[in-house]
Amino acid sequence: GKSGYDHFMLKEIHEQPRALRQCLRGRVDELGAAVDIEDLGDLSPTGVQFVACGTSYHAALYGAQLYRRAGIPAQTFLASEYATAPPPIGDALVVGVTQSGETADTLSALREARHRGARTMAVTNTVGSTAARECDHALYIRAGPEIGVAASKTFASQLAALNLLALGTAPVDRPRETIAGLRDLPGQVQALLDDSRASAVAEQYQDAGAYFFVGRGHQYPVALEGALKMKEITYKHAEGFAAGELKHGPLALVTDDTPVFAVVVGDGEQARKTVGNVKEVEARDAPVVAVTDGRSDVERYADEVLEIPETHPEAAAVLANVQLQLVSYYTAKGLGRSIDKPRNLAKSVTVE
Ligand code: M6R
Repeated sequence: GKSGYDHFMLKEIHEQPRALRQCLRGRVDELGAAVDIEDLGDLSPTGVQFVACGTSYHAALYGAQLYRRAGIPAQTFLASEYATAPPPIGDALVVGVTQSGETADTLSALREARHRGARTMAVTNTVGSTAARECDHALYIRAGPEIGVAASKTFASQLAALNLLALGTAPVDRPRETIAGLRDLPGQVQALLDDSRASAVAEQYQDAGAYFFVGRGHQYPVALEGALKMKEITYKHAEGFAAGELKHGPLALVTDDTPVFAVVVGDGEQARKTVGNVKEVEARDAPVVAVTDGRSDVERYADEVLEIPETHPEAAAVLANVQLQLVSYYTAKGLGRSIDKPRNLAKSVTVE
């Protein structure tokens, strides 16, 4: 059952601390210096192609960034567009990110990859799923069953699992810091859940005409995911952009009726540039909601702030996403939507 929550989605949002702990359990050594993952062996791919759909595609975009930062060429493809991908070369690994392990588009891309001679891996929540059985390797995200059609806890667990995968198979820079960031996550997500202003923000903007989400670097997939969640459960128009792309077109849509959610983490170059983009939307009178660790001056240009604890940029993506999940959830609730079973959508999409 829903354990006292109004919806499975809210229950599953609140299960994230536990899901994240499960994902890490037994996979990080005592000293926090290395990861040890069953079924990876001594895999060290010379390149990685990710294939996935929907929310899992957003996780895969993030996964490819982790590899690229470690100096390994990596690309992400929508599974349904994999036919246009270049053939995997050398010791390339093709990773299907799929919560259910049964998504037809993803299965078909993985089969194509195998046909092209690549080694394949499923990053999945479902033991014994078709993807897990058909791939050479399976990495389980261990989020526990997710009933809500909208993916919530599985996205957080995918991000954590992809960090473990990169740590276990690529020369990730400063692994101890990344591992420390992952270990801090369950407690930080709990603290955020206990003290979020998301429902007040949702209520304030629930009648808006459309919603935009922007982020850069690791926060770009979070912006895309924030928008997908919003459209899927509220039925309102929402779009996610790379923060830098706003001025290349979407800015034309920005008005005082289009709240812009901006994810801004840290105080470095990336944050500074995103704050610059935020100033542009603020100048068009758009309400700005900053999702931030408070280290930049974005709050000066924001109408509302959703705080996240300070951590590494990789881990911050999980935290920022939790705030956006809550905003979508409470907006949908305020609008009286069918949150756990949105119209026209299915939990597992088994047709191409
Ligand atoms: O089971 P999968 O991860 O392969 O599912 C892929 C998408 O259908 C899925 O992530 C979908 O976008 C989410 N349910 C949206 O919340």
